Amino acid sequence: MCGIVGYVGHRDALDVVLRGLGRLEYRGYDSAGVAVLTSAGMLAVARKAGALANLIDELDATGRAALRGTAGMGHTRWATHGAPTDRNAHPHRDTAGRLAVVHNGIIENHAQLRAELEHGGVELASDTDTETAAHLLAAAYARYGDLPLALRMVCRRLSGAFTLVVTHIDEPDLIVAARRSSPLVVGVGNGEHFIASDVAAFIEHTRNAVELGQDQVVTITRDGYQITDFHGARAHGSPFHVDWDLSAAEKGGHDYFMLKEIQEQPSAIANTLRGHFIDGRIVLDEQRMDTQELRDVDKVFVVACGTAYHSGMVAKYAIEHWCRLPVEVELASEFRYRDPVLDRSTLVVAISQSGETMDTLEAVRHAREQKARVLAICNTNGAQIPRESDAVLYTHAGPEIGVAATKTFLAQIVANFLVGLALAQARGTKYADEVAREFAELEAMPAAVAQVLGTVAAVRELGRELAPAKVVLFLGRHVGFPVALEGALKLKELAYMHAEGFAAGELKHGAIALLEEGLPVVVVMPSPKGRAVLHAKLLSNIQEIRARGARTIVIAEEGDETVRPYAAHLLEVPAVPTLLQPLVSTVPLQVLAAEIARQRGYDVDKPRNLAKSVTVE
Ligand code: F6R
Repeated sequence: MCGIVGYVGHRDALDVVLRGLGRLEYRGYDSAGVAVLTSAGMLAVARKAGALANLIDELDATGRAALRGTAGMGHTRWATHGAPTDRNAHPHRDTAGRLAVVHNGIIENHAQLRAELEHGGVELASDTDTETAAHLLAAAYARYGDLPLALRMVCRRLSGAFTLVVTHIDEPDLIVAARRSSPLVVGVGNGEHFIASDVAAFIEHTRNAVELGQDQVVTITRDGYQITDFHGARAHGSPFHVDWDLSAAEKGGHDYFMLKEIQEQPSAIANTLRGHFIDGRIVLDEQRMDTQELRDVDKVFVVACGTAYHSGMVAKYAIEHWCRLPVEVELASEFRYRDPVLDRSTLVVAISQSGETMDTLEAVRHAREQKARVLAICNTNGAQIPRESDAVLYTHAGPEIGVAATKTFLAQIVANFLVGLALAQARGTKYADEVAREFAELEAMPAAVAQVLGTVAAVRELGRELAPAKVVLFLGRHVGFPVALEGALKLKELAYMHAEGFAAGELKHGAIALLEEGLPVVVVMPSPKGRAVLHAKLLSNIQEIRARGARTIVIAEEGDETVRPYAAHLLEVPAVPTLLQPLVSTVPLQVLAAEIARQRGYDVDKPRNLAKSVTVE
């Protein structure tokens, strides 16, 4: 949450920072702000509530001349402490206005620090936790006359998770930043250096990056960067080369990133599978766990939040079926508060697109404290969750900028299947030829998803019809249940519409009372050829719904004629093996939610109140 960019080099810093912020807006869009160390020797700050576009409009209206310089930083906010107003927008300054700070995360002891500052006569100008750091830094700088040292000293006083970036009028050639549990990467250019929450901010300038470790401070100048720990000891980040380029972080002709990302799903699946089946065996990425450890696993927990949690629900069906291992799927935010029974032979699979979701990270930490082994499934190279896990499998979906997860959901499901097959292989619950067959079925999925994408126009048409609805219900059974939950979540978050997903069999235990004439109910049908019993049960459920006047929107396998008479709208998807059905049946629901949101006039990339990385608990 919150996006941060810093720059020292030879270009116009304001331009670099604003362009970078544009690519970090998925992290928050409650306000935006910039600070530039100007060529005239000033520290110039501009900040504005609302989306980055508001700030840009204001800068264009007032003229950018007062913010010319080659060092600067910027922030796009997801509000935690203090309302999303101009006054609470970052950067925050000390009383003398000589130093500016931007911050991502929460300073948990801010109330105590604020009281201490106020007691010392400091008047705070905002309601934020961040401003306390600005005043503490000013005092530390006055004492030590050294900005990196001042930052290290202040960091040692802060609790919580934070990334801080600081500029000072007396240090015009450098920017310092600190990281604890929130992301921070350095971009290494030629005669210029960058810092940012995500490489997307500087990808147009360099693909050479360095990931900062936990509790580290970095100083960037035009010519280099230097990293220390919070005590000043020399430290080294982890250098890496970004394997995607600017085009991946741009809309590529689509109105919204989300629409582009929906279209990218076939390649997200193919890229996630690539390189994981070698010489007849499933191979994971950074498998810092050996085959014996996988063999010893006697219980699996899957922990995740939101959409990633729904992908974990699909994992349960596959792992239990293939590996005959008990699997519990748990919301990461609940996991560590209920004392789960974990030990060395428990495998915890932590799924997170961003790799920085605080609830999932804390679940990982809890699991490791209890000696469980943790395998992370993540889309972000070097993020905190994979760093703190025993093994990692990356979903190579590419950057996902639309706030609503789409291509990463499908990639997570595929990664879950790879974990399931790796476990089955290690434990001998599947023969090598069976593993090979399952993998071949996965390899056929990009084409199946591409086929669904060919039906987008019909789904959008339905979206236009459903846009005025007030409530939509979603039903599914077996792997169709997480799809129903995901369809409802997409509609809630994008179209601000009341939507609920149910296990179809549960409907008659209460929620059936919601049904009324014309209420849209989306039903995710299983294949008639797969688990025939599931299909028959859902067919009965559809009739129960229709009997109460509801309008049935049915996602069914192409050629499933049995369902046609009961569907007010039929959306067909290709026939695929039962466990893989979520990969095709989720796609129309993503398109439907996006279209309804568009019809209602909402920005599908930036749903209200949300941010893509949830770095607070
Ligand atoms: C919904 C969505 C969220 C995320 C959740 C977890 O579209 O994107 O529900 O899935 O916040 O995020 P990650 O996967 O980054 O841990």
